[in-house]
Amino acid sequence: MKVVRVGLIGLGTVGAGVFSVLRRNQEEIKRRTGCRIEITTVSRRDLDKARSMVDGAVRVVANPHELIDSPDVDVVVELIGGCDAAREFVLRAIAAGKHVVTANKALLATHGTEIFAAAEARGVMVAFEAAVAGGIPIVKALREGLTANRIQWIAGIINGTTNYILSEMRNRGVSFDAALRQAQALGYAETDPTFDVNGTDAAHKATLMSAIAFGIPVQFDRAYVEGISGLANLDLRYAEQLGYRIKLLGIVRRREGEGVELRVHPTLLPARQLIANVEGAMNAIVVNGDAVGNTLYYGKGAGSEATASAVIADLVDVARLSTSNPEHRVPYLAFQPGAVRDVQVLPIAEAITSYYLRLRVADETGVLARVTAILAQSGIGVGALLQLEAKDVGGDESAQTDLVILTHQARERAMNVALTQLQALPVVLAPIVRIRKEELD
Ligand code: NAP
Ligand code: HSE
Repeated sequence: MKVVRVGLIGLGTVGAGVFSVLRRNQEEIKRRTGCRIEITTVSRRDLDKARSMVDGAVRVVANPHELIDSPDVDVVVELIGGCDAAREFVLRAIAAGKHVVTANKALLATHGTEIFAAAEARGVMVAFEAAVAGGIPIVKALREGLTANRIQWIAGIINGTTNYILSEMRNRGVSFDAALRQAQALGYAETDPTFDVNGTDAAHKATLMSAIAFGIPVQFDRAYVEGISGLANLDLRYAEQLGYRIKLLGIVRRREGEGVELRVHPTLLPARQLIANVEGAMNAIVVNGDAVGNTLYYGKGAGSEATASAVIADLVDVARLSTSNPEHRVPYLAFQPGAVRDVQVLPIAEAITSYYLRLRVADETGVLARVTAILAQSGIGVGALLQLEAKDVGGDESAQTDLVILTHQARERAMNVALTQLQALPVVLAPIVRIRKEELD
């Protein structure tokens, strides 16, 4: 029986999951694949901890170079996270002619072009299913299952930590900080959770999906990124009253003749939609292809064994494909390297979407007319409106109220002009809250 010998760098949340799932399901995997996947070597800096996690048959080394250069390692699995050391280890593995499996979206979204070119030149594979949406096989779906389609757009909840925080805040009234601490304890958050909260992690994943979906280079530096820390409970509640939920979405959209949108931000979604009801650390991704229409992928987007499921699926792919003619392998980013197009990622000012606006206004006659007149001048239509009675807003009961507006679609540039004018009105008493809104139909 063919044996695939694996070197595992990183034995934290995901590394430990890979180890235990492989051990538990080895027989089932062998029945499926006809090969045995064997971890021969592991590496982490804390050697004592590493030794306590593996059995005596597995070699433990502190220096990943030793693992990479070892003749009994055919595939290097990088599970340390971060960019600097990970980049060095991955490039060294590629140079040594080893296939690579990684869960590291930060690495591939920022250094993917260099890494895939090096792998192409050396004829080895770089597999990264676990880098996007944890255990959901979305990379395989986009790269293989949907090959027949021209992908039009993808929108997804692709960060488990932030979805967990929003769900805990909404369903259980847990504070932002407490919910984040819970997400960290459950192993969902990045080593630096700022990347989760400020949208960077979701933007890494959206960047990878845009490349696979549209055949464009990875361009994380062009992504628009906005996280959830500015969200107020009040807006979550108003959105509910209007029949919407707020989720942190990664959105990539093809705009014929113009470029592509690549953006991550809190987004209002109609509460009736399946994706709006995805709770906790679960992820869900809607993909729209011209032939298939909308398809939805749902599952655990983070966590030890769910992510290990994707890492091991990549190991099986490597085992299967390493014996095939490299010309027949599925390209790393779905499109043949020579067919990648340098389509521009549009600046956020060119995005087209609809909006939720909340204006804290003086409770005076004529305010509504002035606000809607400014929107109309910018060509922005109003879809729905909610104005609370002043007494329900708190503070000085008679003085102020909230005006919540849902707009029709508009170009963000036009919305920016309108917002500047609205903010300048003396009756607008606080910074206007603007949250983007999508229907996903
Ligand atoms: P983690 O729990 O922090 O584990 C990182 C591991 O890497 C630790 O065992 C650490 O051990 C080791 N390490 C760090 N630097 C090292 C170095 N220079 N040399 C050798 N070992 C080193 O991280 P994780 O959550 O498993 O995440 C790993 C990767 O998977 C990241 O890229 C992450 O974005 C990605 N990912 C995570 C999840 C998830 O749910 N957690 C899901 C999808 C993808 P020592 O400190 O002892 O060295
Ligand atoms: N920190 C990431 C998340 C892990 O919460 O989604 C999975 O990529």
